[in-house]
Amino acid sequence: MTSPDAGYAVRLAGADDIAAVAGARARWREHEADDAFVGEFERWWLETEDRRRTWIALGSQRIIGMVSMTVFTRMPSPGEPGKQWAYVGQVWVDPAYRRMGIARTMMTEAIAWARHALMERIVLNPSEMSRPLYAGLGFRSAADLLRLDLDGAS
Ligand SMILES: CC(C)(COP(=O)(O)OP(=O)(O)OC[C@H]1O[C@@H](n2cnc3c(N)ncnc32)[C@H](O)[C@@H]1OP(=O)(O)O)[C@@H](O)C(=O)NCCC(=O)NCCS
Repeated sequence: MTSPDAGYAVRLAGADDIAAVAGARARWREHEADDAFVGEFERWWLETEDRRRTWIALGSQRIIGMVSMTVFTRMPSPGEPGKQWAYVGQVWVDPAYRRMGIARTMMTEAIAWARHALMERIVLNPSEMSRPLYAGLGFRSAADLLRLDLDGAS
């Protein structure tokens, strides 16, 4: 999807984009993308790429936004094929480009892809500032999910 008026384009990221997406991830975390990080990022990319899609928003010079979607397939039952659902994460837009509809455009692409693949559900863990974005896209709070934090954080 291209929005020439707004000066950006949204598309799926591929293997040629790994270094650029690593750079965007480092900017998100306000760090440099040194060789060690790009190497670690590339290993993550290759390890997850068969079950993950990452959409990127491209400005005139570099990546200005991203959305990742990881797909899970349920165990099938007799007469019922394993349905798929997806977890969305790594939703980010460069601060200089916020409130221009870029996250909504990327999420709309990701949701359309999941619908096209006949997935039954998309789940995500919103940051406080992103709640209005997701509400506007039709997401609702779920009372039927539980979490257990294993990293010592409560
Ligand atoms: C949250 C985030 C991805 C939104 O990106 P964005 O491109 O600015 O969002 P959009 O412009 O597409 O916003 C679409 C709608 O979402 C809502 N929205 C987005 N950001 C909002 C904010 N900070 N406060 C209130 N509503 C907001 C608005 O309704 C907005 O529509 P409007 O501008 O016409 O009112 C971006 O602020 C960001 O990267 N934040 C830091 C990382 C983060 O929190 N990611 C989410 C992880 S789950």
